[in-house]
Amino acid sequence: MNRTLTILGIESSCDDTAAAVVRGHDVLASVVYGQTSLHADFGGVVPEIAARAHAEKLDHCIEEALAEAELTFSDLDGIAVTAGPGLIGGVLSGVMCAKGLCAATGLPLIGVNHLAGHALTPRLTHQVAYPYLMLLVSGGHCQFLIVKAHDTFQRIGGTIDDAPGEAFDKTARLLGLPQPGGPSIEKAAKTGDPKRFALPRPLLNQPGCDMSFSGLKTAILRARDSVVAEKGGLTAQDQSDLSASFQAAITDVLTEKTRRALAEYLELTPAKRSFAIAGGVAANQSVRDELLALCATLDTNFMAPPLHLCTDNAAMIAYAGIERMMAGEYDDLTLSARPRWPLDGRAAPMLGSGKKGAKA
Ligand code: KG4
Ligand code: ZN
Repeated sequence: MNRTLTILGIESSCDDTAAAVVRGHDVLASVVYGQTSLHADFGGVVPEIAARAHAEKLDHCIEEALAEAELTFSDLDGIAVTAGPGLIGGVLSGVMCAKGLCAATGLPLIGVNHLAGHALTPRLTHQVAYPYLMLLVSGGHCQFLIVKAHDTFQRIGGTIDDAPGEAFDKTARLLGLPQPGGPSIEKAAKTGDPKRFALPRPLLNQPGCDMSFSGLKTAILRARDSVVAEKGGLTAQDQSDLSASFQAAITDVLTEKTRRALAEYLELTPAKRSFAIAGGVAANQSVRDELLALCATLDTNFMAPPLHLCTDNAAMIAYAGIERMMAGEYDDLTLSARPRWPLDGRAAPMLGSGKKGAKA
């Protein structure tokens, strides 16, 4: 199929309700309704509240995306929807909505893996050629993938417990900083001393590309408690120093593990040198700067999609739908929602977050 396809994408796997229209490599509209305020009182995403909010907001979101793109259903070639992994109620809301629209309009239905959406984003934004190395790093994901084709992903490592974004969020909570934790830790770290607290760099002395972040959070808890025991509380400078020390530890681990993942990738494909990052933690300047510097030393192209396409959105789902459709792949109304759906079925299951987290 050679003509430029125009696809509506729908995303509802966690706490963002999103719809987008993508034509080829052009994002004509991308609408995201966040749910942060709905879950704020509960310290995390409440699946039932999320599912209800998706069901209420999806049609408005789709209407808005089509209006922004100045298109109607008759201008579309298909509807792509996240069919997993994610919170089952949310994924079902999206899948049922897409099925209804396809039944009513006769448009083809394309089920998309949410992680494939993230992993294919550098093709949407940078038109990068296969194979490339990808680090997906957010509140729910953390894995290295060699992306070989739109449906062929090799996972060469990932977290065995918390995802880094989760560690940023939990650490912010421990330090009394606002949620989401990533941006508030980054802000506090700007005026902090990254060397004041000697935090561990978990799994750095072990071979391979697997990572662990839960011990870091425990180390922060101990460091905080010792300051509190000594002074009776945390000063703003203590918060900044703890934030800077934490951010330095996360950056060191991600950088060293990326060095190893790149070595593995470059061994397979010495002529193709492209590395991309996606996910909310990709917004962190310290992480970006270190990874960019690392890629420069290895003569590797570093790609970071714009932030609104790094975090959860429906443009990535629409684009992944375009790649599937170009390969002649469709679904029908028997498409199921899959709460667990690893991208690389051959890789060993993740020990920690792959089982516990919302997004395997
Ligand atoms: O990709 P995302 O929007 O949602 C999923 O987790 O799927 O990522 C959100 C995560 C949160 O944990 C947030 O704290 C983290 O990304 N984050 C950051 C920054 N901005 C967002 N972490 C570190 N530094 C940042 N500037
Ligand atoms: Zn995501």
